[in-house]
Amino acid sequence: MEIRILEGDITQRQVDAIVNAANSSLLGGGGVDGAIHAAAGPQLLQACRRLRATELPDGLPPGQAAATEGYFLPAKWVIHTVGPNRRAGQTDPELLAGCFRESLRVAEGLRAETLAFPAIGAGVYGWDAETVARRGIGQVLAYDGGVQVVEFVLFSAGLAETFRRVHLELLG
Ligand code: APR
Repeated sequence: MEIRILEGDITQRQVDAIVNAANSSLLGGGGVDGAIHAAAGPQLLQACRRLRATELPDGLPPGQAAATEGYFLPAKWVIHTVGPNRRAGQTDPELLAGCFRESLRVAEGLRAETLAFPAIGAGVYGWDAETVARRGIGQVLAYDGGVQVVEFVLFSAGLAETFRRVHLELLG
């Protein structure tokens, strides 16, 4: 398993699957959710609506993950996951860890070999970069499955620096 930490726009990553920091409705939003829907095109929202009409009538709970195709994105799949909304009182970092763990499990089921994560929760949902990095990288280091390359694609140099530092710390 190779971990890459890089600064950039996740919608442009040439990987099998990218992870979307969605909300429970799965009907789009701002931040990376908005960017992914804009890049994937309207079929992504249609696919999310189909999930809501079938497997996920009550929406996607925090800490869980569900996949759709990627449509106009370079990535074949989008794995949608919902971080706990710290600003709304959902302060359990185990749910945040679950976003990363469940996304890896869904990627495994898709036979994805390369996967890219954004900093789930580190924007609107109010988590600090350190916690997101520690929980996210920690779950990837604990993972032992078929995904060969995991990228953390950060939207700022500051975030990338935090993730690189935490990665080195967790490697010991
Ligand atoms: N590529 C990579 N990272 C990005 C991109 C992008 N194109 N756009 C934004 N980000 C970063 C943000 O800068 C932040 O560091 O993704 C991280 C996650 O922030 P949000 O997108 O706000 O996600 P989150 O904090 O999990 O909040 C989710 O926001 O957009 C809504 O619908 C979404 O309600 C949900 C909530």
